[in-house]
Amino acid sequence: MNSLITQINENAAGISIPGIRVFANKVNLLPDGINLTIGEPDFPTPEPIKQAAVAAITNNLTGYSHNAGLLSLRKSVSRHFHQSYGFAYDPEHEILITNGASSGIDAALRTILREGDEVILPAPIYSGYDPVIRLAGGVPVYLDTSDTGFKPDPVRLEALVTLRTKAVILNYPSNPTGATLDRDTTDRLADVLSRHDLFVISDEIYSENVYSGPHISLASYPSLRNQLILIHGLSKSHSMTGWRVGFVLAPRFLTEQILKVHMSNSICASLPSQYAAIEALETCRDIPKEMNKAYIRRRDYAHRRLTEMGLDVELPTGAFYLFPSITRTRLGSWEFAEKLLDSQHVAVVPGGSFTSYGEGFIRISYATSMDTLVKGLDRMETFLHELQP
Ligand SMILES: Cc1ncc(COP(=O)(O)O)c(C=O)c1O
Repeated sequence: MNSLITQINENAAGISIPGIRVFANKVNLLPDGINLTIGEPDFPTPEPIKQAAVAAITNNLTGYSHNAGLLSLRKSVSRHFHQSYGFAYDPEHEILITNGASSGIDAALRTILREGDEVILPAPIYSGYDPVIRLAGGVPVYLDTSDTGFKPDPVRLEALVTLRTKAVILNYPSNPTGATLDRDTTDRLADVLSRHDLFVISDEIYSENVYSGPHISLASYPSLRNQLILIHGLSKSHSMTGWRVGFVLAPRFLTEQILKVHMSNSICASLPSQYAAIEALETCRDIPKEMNKAYIRRRDYAHRRLTEMGLDVELPTGAFYLFPSITRTRLGSWEFAEKLLDSQHVAVVPGGSFTSYGEGFIRISYATSMDTLVKGLDRMETFLHELQP
């Protein structure tokens, strides 16, 4: 073995491939495989957005932009959030355009974390935060939400705050549970968080995918304004996962620091993608509502089918995931997902890949066609019948 392998940073070597990828890779090898793991919209990027990028390329708008992103895009972002959620961020000093939400999360964490700093995260939670916290020297501290409807209990959250706590990461609407926050919980969370000297990173990338009531953004709380880093992007709302456009909104003293990390890593976001993003925000504001009509039909169908199969499952109010309990089967979530894939060629994500608090659940994505969903759920029903003695 090459001895240099021992020289690799332990934090990088320790990253494991997320459960989503493991099962997606396996199912893709099966000609009749049904993939219910996918966390991206199945709709094509809308035509005007694609044409805006084509025009940018044709007109040779293919170089670097300002490190923070095109000012015209930052102005569109600022207007969009003001019109949609009522809060204002200054496009010149308080908004950064990043390579997807992921690079914004990474830049923000590497800007604020010191070795040994703790980051509190309600769990089960998206598996993308843990590795970047660890790479930045931080320590994830998970708050169990599996017995509080997958919403963080503010009192329990406060009990986890120590002298080492540097940040809290919140992700509502939630991947993987589909939970959203109600006004009362958000009020109480804002109250607790604003009393502590810590950063709040709120990843609201699914805010356009909310199916009951308005999305309540943590950025709408003036009491959090000085400590909040809002993460967003167009991957989910406008079916633009491959375009890599994300946003970081934060007070100036933070964006000035995060910008240096972002520019050291990637200089700027792709320029044609930034022109496409302006089009998305300026002329395609109703696209998410159209997509939501399809998501709601699929969600209701899948929820009914799972309930009829005897699985305990909350009706999700946001994002595009269902998170049914599989404890009835007495199988662990990895074992369940492996057996389902082996016997029925259907891939789902084990809840245990979203921290141990997701154990006993599986994640099913309904960002896939109704036809795929019907076939996948038919096969899951057969699987559950066969499991019974
Ligand atoms: C909660 C959450 N944040 C961030 C991302 C990554 O977004 P992007 O593709 O814009 O980097 C995802 C992708 O699944 C996600 O679910």
